Amino acid sequence: MTILDETYTLTGGVEIPKLGLGTWFIHDDEVADAVRAAVEIGYRNIDTAQAYGNERGVGEGVRASGVPRDELFVSTKLAAEIKDYDQALIAIDGSLEKLGLDHIDLMLIHSPQPWDDFRGGDYAQGNREAWRALEDSHQAGKIRAIGVSNFRQHDLENVLQGASVVPHVNQLLVHAGNTPTDLLAYCRSKRILVEAYSPIAHGAILKNAQVRAIAERYGVSVPQLCIRYTLQLGTVSLPKTANPEHMRSNAEVDFEISVDDMDLLRDLRGVDYGEHIVFPVYRGE
Ligand SMILES: NC(=O)c1ccc[n+]([C@@H]2O[C@H](COP(=O)([O-])OP(=O)(O)OC[C@H]3O[C@@H](n4cnc5c(N)ncnc54)[C@H](OP(=O)(O)O)[C@@H]3O)[C@@H](O)[C@H]2O)c1
Repeated sequence: MTILDETYTLTGGVEIPKLGLGTWFIHDDEVADAVRAAVEIGYRNIDTAQAYGNERGVGEGVRASGVPRDELFVSTKLAAEIKDYDQALIAIDGSLEKLGLDHIDLMLIHSPQPWDDFRGGDYAQGNREAWRALEDSHQAGKIRAIGVSNFRQHDLENVLQGASVVPHVNQLLVHAGNTPTDLLAYCRSKRILVEAYSPIAHGAILKNAQVRAIAERYGVSVPQLCIRYTLQLGTVSLPKTANPEHMRSNAEVDFEISVDDMDLLRDLRGVDYGEHIVFPVYRGE
């Protein structure tokens, strides 16, 4: 038994593998091979999004993997710009069609605001409409579990108003040096499972001397330490790579980080996203 066989159970009873494969920036023409390689290694959880432009290839990889569909967990995300019930329903059907699958395991509202207004504006009504569309598609059997991403406490409280389903998942930026402790506790209190995206800080942490020193003490790589850190927080970890060697080593995380080192990794400061700061999610807003 490895981490690839371990699951959490969402409220509602759906099982979600603890380790998944992120696919942001894996091109549509290349992602099918990456998904097939990951499934061969033992990955069962694949994360995509409408915004990544690679749902077609992800679906191709899933269908070609040779593993029965019900043993795989496929997540996608409703585009952040869609804040309208009817548009959301159309987009959900669009994802099913692009993926070429008859159901999606998990679908998230990608962000509480459109990307060009991240952490701005008032999209409370639009988020409730998008949520209702996810609830109705869940009810219709098109999506097994539904959730949100990048939602803070007030964004969650907004969709909870009148919701018939409490979000099963909130996918958040969580990595050593960026641990939203209060939000993690709030999600836990609502039984919302957190998925850690960018667990390797989009690659920015690879050169961090302090993290390298800790990894060396455990005899593991920086990505292994970072992935293990997010798993020990009780989150799903979603490292991205199209490299089968990286996929394999990222799943070798059968070691335990001590309480003191968990604290060190949580309190780490100064992870520099460099050029990737152009993406709103890394601006700390
Ligand atoms: N909901 C959201 O708003 C949101 C935002 C960001 C990300 N996400 C999700 O989270 C996933 C992961 O986040 P991310 O793509 O930002 O970055 P990440 O997983 O934190 O880091 C990816 C980087 O780490 C490198 N890497 C991975 N494994 C490695 C290894 N074993 N050795 C050396 N380098 C390694 C990758 O390079 P190689 O490719 O060369 O291996 C890549 O440069 C995304 O793909 C996406 O699915 C969601």
